[in-house]
Amino acid sequence: MILFPQGRPTQRETFDEYCAAGGYDALKKSLSPTAILREISASGLRGRGGAGFPAGRKWAVAAETPATPRYVVCNAGEDEPGSLKDRILIAHRPHLVLEGTILAARAIQAGHAYIYLNETYDDCFNRMDEAVREATAAGLLGSLAVTIHRAPTVYVAGEDSAAIEVVGGKPPLPRQNVETLANVPPIIRNGASWFRTHGTPDSPGTMLFCLGDEMNRPGAYELPLGTSLRYLYENVGNGLKNGAELKAILPGGPSCAFLTNDQLDVPLDQESLKKAGSTLGCGVMRFYSKETCMVEETLRIAQFFARESCGQCPACRMETNMLSVMLERIQQGKADAALFDQFQKIVDFNRGKGYCALINMPGPPILSAIRLFREEFEHHIRQGTCGV
Ligand SMILES: Cc1cc2nc3c(=O)[nH]c(=O)nc-3n(C[C@H](O)[C@H](O)[C@H](O)COP(=O)(O)O)c2cc1C
Repeated sequence: MILFPQGRPTQRETFDEYCAAGGYDALKKSLSPTAILREISASGLRGRGGAGFPAGRKWAVAAETPATPRYVVCNAGEDEPGSLKDRILIAHRPHLVLEGTILAARAIQAGHAYIYLNETYDDCFNRMDEAVREATAAGLLGSLAVTIHRAPTVYVAGEDSAAIEVVGGKPPLPRQNVETLANVPPIIRNGASWFRTHGTPDSPGTMLFCLGDEMNRPGAYELPLGTSLRYLYENVGNGLKNGAELKAILPGGPSCAFLTNDQLDVPLDQESLKKAGSTLGCGVMRFYSKETCMVEETLRIAQFFARESCGQCPACRMETNMLSVMLERIQQGKADAALFDQFQKIVDFNRGKGYCALINMPGPPILSAIRLFREEFEHHIRQGTCGV
């Protein structure tokens, strides 16, 4: 694989081990900014932070903008429930992430890079701090300044414009997820066409998928994009604990639409999941057993967004609260079926009306849950209890 060539991360890689395995060779190729940009664009690498935007295009925009100084922010805010991949990458392969950050800075000619790190990740802070010191001592940073900045542990702090507010200033810059940047050194070292031998034509490479504690084998796993959801569920995660039967899947974190158990053959890549009615997000997979009450689960997701809305935009504050209260009324049996029609209207009305994308996030899980598991919602309305 690309990020963990030895398979699952078992030990924490040292500077010497990283260098012995070809680490920093990409940097030592001393490619020009244009050559790095060309290779990243040709590789088809897409952002792993949730939106799947092409990294090459993002970097080209930053490189072409006349404003200076330029900065790179490596986004390790990681407050998405169930996500642990950025932590694993930084804790086990800090130099891979650092080399990717240095290459991104070279590509857009930035003089300063920030590693924006979840403030609870002390282990990562120490590892990255050590890595920066080792790379500096080895003369690998050149004139690039690298600062590790602690990110507040609130969900919205990982949104890119919020991250920039936190590190200060509003310069033109790309904000890249840790995993996106970790793909950069292997691409520069081995070439774009090598990268494209993994994954699919439109979603090349691999991705780290996080499985939760409901699975027999929870953890983060690197798989080629385009691998089937079934393979991840059955062969990697080994199914749900206690032999429970599968009912639903949330394939990309809490802001994506639910899938049902008859959609296990969907390939895990951006295009296939879109066709299946959902999104890949940042690869946090949740699998729900037949015993799960989808009303309770949907309510939990709605409450999460209501809690995590920073409150700055009135539309977001009102939308997230209203959706959560409406679901609570259904869950308690204090609503009638006419309420169902209101969800779509509220979501449509508020779409795009916030400073960030959080306002768009509760729609897909809530609307898909109501559509796919309508009888469970109706049962709650009638009885105020679960029908499962
Ligand atoms: C509410 C919210 C929270 C987010 N949290 C994170 C996060 O913790 N880490 C991250 O990399 N991206 C997060 N994102 C996505 C970023 O805004 C941005 O798209 C990403 O960092 C870009 O990197 P990429 O192009 O490498 O994917 C979040 C977005 C939103 C709307």
